[in-house]
Amino acid sequence: MAGDGKGLVAGAALDGGPRLLVPPPAFTSDRLKGMVIGQLYAAIRNGVNAGNMPSYSAQIEPMDRWAILSYVRQLQGVPDEGGEVMVAAKQSIASAGYGEQLYKAKGCNACHTIDGSKLVGPSFKGIYGKKESTSAGEVDVDDAYLKESMMTPMAKIVTGYPPAMPPLPLDEIEVKALSLYIATLK
Ligand code: HEC
Repeated sequence: MAGDGKGLVAGAALDGGPRLLVPPPAFTSDRLKGMVIGQLYAAIRNGVNAGNMPSYSAQIEPMDRWAILSYVRQLQGVPDEGGEVMVAAKQSIASAGYGEQLYKAKGCNACHTIDGSKLVGPSFKGIYGKKESTSAGEVDVDDAYLKESMMTPMAKIVTGYPPAMPPLPLDEIEVKALSLYIATLK
């Protein structure tokens, strides 16, 4: 928890358990503090010392690697260059998976389900590509309509629902990611 290299696995090895060829170093050591972020990233992606620490590329996707390194930098008290990388990455990647995370992280799930049942707002299930009846007449549920619904919730109110959706701070990439996610909910 402290990043000092004395975690559960290492502890067993140091207490005479299964030996680690090279014990894990403390994140807080000067050597690791002095590593450029790319070296730390490479450790997660490629492993270290020919597999003494295995590669975690299959388990940990790139955005999560940067997120972990952000935390490590914080433990080290070293400025977090990875956070900048992550923001840059976030600005260029909009995926349905990211949209799914946002659906929860932004609290959309408080009012919208994905299984067809109604909450405060309509379910997202099966809406993409359909026609929706709104206060401005019938509209096609496409990317433009979804974007407008998110950015300017009061523009068109879905028939049968209250004008109860708050304006939420979402950037372009987040809107796109949420639309990609909604499109997967057949
Ligand atoms: C406090 C409840 C609430 C929250 C939180 C909320 N919404 Fe809504 N939303 C509504 C309501 C009510 C409507 C229907 C009335 C309207 O059209 O504004 C709606 C409508 C929509 C529509 C149009 C759906 C359709 O069937 O045409 C979209 C798209 C939408 N919301 C996306 C989102 C997204 C994405 C989030 C999260 C970032 C979100 N909403 C968060 C209440 C909410």
